[in-house]
Amino acid sequence: MKVSIVGLGYVGLPIAINAAEKGCAVGGFDIDESKISKLKSGISDSPDVSQNQILSLIAEGKLFFSSDISDHKGSSIYVIAVPTPLEENNIPDLSYLKNACKLLAKVVKHGDLVINESTSYIGTLRNLIKPIIEELSGLLDLGYAVAPERIDPGNEAWNIGNTPRNISGLTDQATNDAVAFYRRFCDSINTLSKPEIAEAAKLFENTFRHINIALVNEFSEIANKFDFSANDAITAAATKPFGFMPFYPSIGVGGHCIPVDPSYLVFSAEQVGVESKFINLANQTNLLMPVKVAKRIQKYLDGNLEGKRIQIAGIAYKTDVPDMRESPAIKLISELENLGAEVFWCDPLVKVFKDSKSQSLNINIDLGLIINPHKEIDLSIWKRAGTKVLDLSSNSEDFGWPKFL
Ligand SMILES: NC(=O)c1ccc[n+]([C@@H]2O[C@H](COP(=O)([O-])OP(=O)(O)OC[C@H]3O[C@@H](n4cnc5c(N)ncnc54)[C@H](O)[C@@H]3O)[C@@H](O)[C@H]2O)c1
Repeated sequence: MKVSIVGLGYVGLPIAINAAEKGCAVGGFDIDESKISKLKSGISDSPDVSQNQILSLIAEGKLFFSSDISDHKGSSIYVIAVPTPLEENNIPDLSYLKNACKLLAKVVKHGDLVINESTSYIGTLRNLIKPIIEELSGLLDLGYAVAPERIDPGNEAWNIGNTPRNISGLTDQATNDAVAFYRRFCDSINTLSKPEIAEAAKLFENTFRHINIALVNEFSEIANKFDFSANDAITAAATKPFGFMPFYPSIGVGGHCIPVDPSYLVFSAEQVGVESKFINLANQTNLLMPVKVAKRIQKYLDGNLEGKRIQIAGIAYKTDVPDMRESPAIKLISELENLGAEVFWCDPLVKVFKDSKSQSLNINIDLGLIINPHKEIDLSIWKRAGTKVLDLSSNSEDFGWPKFL
């Protein structure tokens, strides 16, 4: 089975590795030439892929990387995993996906299968991907399927192998071919009757999370006024053995999925004349969190942040990843600075962000804020020094300081 993966980011690279480890001949394609040259040396941002894994697969001839699409002509399956962000006005930006389809049209041949893993609005496979490839390639006998990715980078319990995968093709043949591919490295597969259901399920999963996070963030404000932490009440509520699922408050949502995917569902809803009130409300609530949290921190420090030295532990959008996309820490830092604080950060995974750099944990500060307790940050330094610290992380784990949110 010869497979090419189009887009080698947090989603595409682990697919390439898993498929190659299970006997497929895999070509990795990305338009970013610097990424391709790093991958050839085994270097990637993905916490789920090691340099050794990449280098041994290359050495065994099971995996190659190339930014020239014509090198991928020999494949019979093409898996698309490119970014699907939002434009300024929160509408889907499908430029990467369209571009990927245009490139694929140059190399596909009769009977090939195109699988989309990128998250997009309902109907993308049928109404966007298929028409572009068909028109540009002139081939009308290709298979098309969706298999939306659910990877949670850095999650040690759930990975590509043991996370069930929803799959659906535009034809039974396409569904069967896609299932045959994923069965090599996925333990559990759900086949669905049409791709729109798989696309919608992916959007709904992340929207469910987004709305529940907004709900606990609102709850955190209520709890704060009553002088307790929402975390404690949520942990107590979670002792109910049925009908409750705990989500924990945070300074907001980040990454390429939770702040973005719900707007793809809003877009789908608008196409069919439905107003999605919950999603828009959740967006507003989560976006305002850094502003509100900064004010709560100001109140905690006797109402004055002027000249206060604050260090943040972990500025990435989530724990144990170096990913800064949409990280709410960026907004929190600027809000604290607007209120007069001097803010610096420690994040050994991010290292450099724009014009600032990670600094080791400092004990000569007025306040430490734990946002992402990455394994690589040794918080015991603050503990031993008796530094004043607030735990703002959404991890339910106890890091030795009371939860602030
Ligand atoms: N990151 C996650 O945790 C996650 C989880 C599930 C689903 N998704 C979805 O998967 C998709 C990919 O996300 P990601 O996090 O891997 O993004 P990413 O930014 O990490 O990687 C995407 C890669 O695609 C490349 N690319 C862009 N245009 C291309 C083109 N035309 N041809 C080939 N390569 C191209 C980029 O250079 C980049 O390397 C998105 O739709 C995202 O919503 C992401």
